[in-house]
Amino acid sequence: MNYINMTYDEACHYAPTEEPARQYFFMEYCKALIGKQKEMSGKDSFTFHIATFGCQMNSRDSEKLQGILEAIGFVETDSEEADFVLYNTCTVRENANQRVYGRLGFLNSLKKKNPNMMISLCGCMMQEEEVVAKIRKSYRFVDIIFGTHNIFKLAELMAERLDKKKMVVDIWNGTDRIVEDLPTDRKYSFKSGVNIMFGCNNFCSYCIVPYVRGRERSRSPKDIVEEIKKLSQDGVIEIMLLGQNVNSYGKNLDEPVSFADLLTQVDQIEGLERIRFMTSHPKDLSDELIEAMKNSKKVCRHLHLPLQSGSSRILKAMNRSYTKEQYLELVEKIRTAMPDISLTTDIIVGFPGETEEDFLETMDVVKKVRFDSAFTFIYSKRTGTPAAKMESQIPEEVIKDRFDRLLTEVQKISSEVCGRDEHTEQKVLVEEVNDHGEGLLTGRLSNNTTVHFKGDPSLIGKIVNVYLEESKGFYYMGTLRP
Ligand code: SAH
Ligand code: SF4
Ligand code: F3S
Repeated sequence: MNYINMTYDEACHYAPTEEPARQYFFMEYCKALIGKQKEMSGKDSFTFHIATFGCQMNSRDSEKLQGILEAIGFVETDSEEADFVLYNTCTVRENANQRVYGRLGFLNSLKKKNPNMMISLCGCMMQEEEVVAKIRKSYRFVDIIFGTHNIFKLAELMAERLDKKKMVVDIWNGTDRIVEDLPTDRKYSFKSGVNIMFGCNNFCSYCIVPYVRGRERSRSPKDIVEEIKKLSQDGVIEIMLLGQNVNSYGKNLDEPVSFADLLTQVDQIEGLERIRFMTSHPKDLSDELIEAMKNSKKVCRHLHLPLQSGSSRILKAMNRSYTKEQYLELVEKIRTAMPDISLTTDIIVGFPGETEEDFLETMDVVKKVRFDSAFTFIYSKRTGTPAAKMESQIPEEVIKDRFDRLLTEVQKISSEVCGRDEHTEQKVLVEEVNDHGEGLLTGRLSNNTTVHFKGDPSLIGKIVNVYLEESKGFYYMGTLRP
């Protein structure tokens, strides 16, 4: 087909209506138009740069967006001085938004030097009406804006932008569609995230994710297993199953399946060596799942179990559906089944109404559980969430003081427990060359702790035996063993 002289409206007329065929059509269309621009500019290649903010969901989405851009003919670059710059945004806390606005001014200065440059914004922040209104008004140089529900449409949106030469905005409020089989390009050849579900139905009262990612939707076990088999044939040995709350996986499928069932199916895939998953909500982590983890040699000995607060009163206000006691019991059960498991968590300090007493309950859980590591966050008021309207928001200096005390405790415990495998030999997946040390490689234990050791870069992507010589608090120095 001769795409060059075709307008976007004509292309829409010829394009298949079903997905993903429609997007493959638009990839070809964009490829032709970008090819023409490239020829006229005299450049050998057109480059793209994706900056990803936020969680693993966004990282995985970025790999899909990267796959589409490469299919169109763009070549990746580290620099934002690229022909196509895409920010995949996060809005879980206010400071994430500020960073994006801060960087947009700089992008505009780059665009003034490169007339072919396109700037695109997508991800969770774009699902907020006031954000899009602000960009339309004050950041007119942005070319394409889309949200979390339609990332599969990047080629079609770019096609419209290339022809019509004005800002294209396409935000969906929700979707029950899951488009399979689009191109993706992985950051690592040997490990990959795999979405098992999208969205969240939990509505924790502080959290914006359910509003920007929509209602919970699970992929079918068949599609998931197929994808992992393909990844495994392509050299992937570690996968991370991704969902905002993997424990409620499968509940909304026509034929309901539990997460434990899915894990058991994935466990049987040949060639796969390690299975991780994120995130587990404590409220519905089942005994069946603990059993499935325990019985699997591939499921890694690491569980991220967000606590958020140690005060049952605050947990109730957060709509977390568990108490301090239930959380502690759950930890006990997990540790009895898997004594060597590493537990990590997320904690929010300064939720509205949090008293010193509530905070001390959080400190108490931290001291009792002794997490391998904990991500600590200062509560951020997100417009539209129930907590934003709650009275008694906590003054900044009080939060800061609690945050510092918590961080000190978390780090102290972490440095004590992380070293428990010192002087043992462990299996390590080699991930990359360590930039800081001559000849050093960096890898991960099953429990997610990092290890640095001398070795040849050809080992990257392989599982090797490493003797853990010395614990340095959060990581080990080790020696490669035959
Ligand atoms: N689905 C995951 C969390 C996704 S958001 C879960 O339920 O565990 C990642 C973390 O960001 C959360 O665990 C929480 O600790 C933190 N977070 C979410 N909203 C926040 C807010 N308004 N202020 C501060 N931290 C927040
Ligand atoms: Fe947010 Fe709660 Fe859903 Fe996690 S489970 S994404 S914290 S609403
Ligand atoms: Fe951020 Fe969206 Fe993830 S708000 S934490 S990128 S789901």
